[in-house]
Amino acid sequence: MILEVDHVTKRFNGVAAVRGVSFSVPEGAIFGLMGANGAGKTTIFSMIAGNEQPTSGDIRFQGSSIQGLRPWRISRLGIARTFQIVRPFPALTCRENVALAVLYGAGQDSSPARAMRVAGEILNEVKLATVADEEARRLTLVSRKRLEIARALGARPKLLLLDEVLAGLTPMEVEAAVELLRHIHRRYQLTIVMVEHVLRALMRLCTEIAVLDHGEKIAEGSPQAVSADPVVVKAYFGAPQ
Ligand SMILES: Nc1ncnc2c1ncn2[C@@H]1O[C@H](COP(=O)(O)OP(=O)(O)OP(=O)(O)O)[C@@H](O)[C@H]1O
Ligand SMILES: [Mg+2]
Repeated sequence: MILEVDHVTKRFNGVAAVRGVSFSVPEGAIFGLMGANGAGKTTIFSMIAGNEQPTSGDIRFQGSSIQGLRPWRISRLGIARTFQIVRPFPALTCRENVALAVLYGAGQDSSPARAMRVAGEILNEVKLATVADEEARRLTLVSRKRLEIARALGARPKLLLLDEVLAGLTPMEVEAAVELLRHIHRRYQLTIVMVEHVLRALMRLCTEIAVLDHGEKIAEGSPQAVSADPVVVKAYFGAPQ
């Protein structure tokens, strides 16, 4: 298992946003994390990436606890995340945005020229080559989402955490994004954990899905098993009329 989330709880001012959640992600998997608004999905990503500390429980990456490590240390171990609210530097070009991630993310590339070249390669892989020298603020939503993925890839992760990268896209844009995620999964030999509301996309990409409800894991299994689970149907789609 490349990632083990082990009985993790997070309280904010006494209120539990995540309660005793455990799941394990095999190397090379595309693992889905599903749940309604406020279920605790982003908080779990923040704890894995070191932006938040669990109140209790442990998180292991490649068999070792990453509990208490700063985000930059976790990034250098090989975990990268995207943010639900994308955060590029708006006045920098796409290429510059990704080059910064290459320079500071993995910490191995000290040459700006090389970082710019690698950034170009990554932008090519995420199909943003034509806008590589546009300022980030000029991009459409679809392209901003791709740039956020490109920035995460700049840190050369083994494990990529994607927080709602399909949200707000039209069905056709989702189709293209699903293909893109398949492509980068193969191309960079990644393990991916993705948070989504778009169940259809999760069904097509993931081998395993965990479902959260009010901070607790209520189900886990294959997409088919999870979508047929009455507990999930009730929590996620509401009680039957
Ligand atoms: N920094 C924080 N301080 C206090 N409460 C927080 C903080 N971050 C998250 N919460 C609370 O924790 C709960 C879980 O939030 P989280 O953002 O993890 O949910 P989510 O599943 O990602 O939801 P969404 O689908 O809307 O993105 C919510 O009730 C939220 O208000
Ligand atoms: Mg969220």
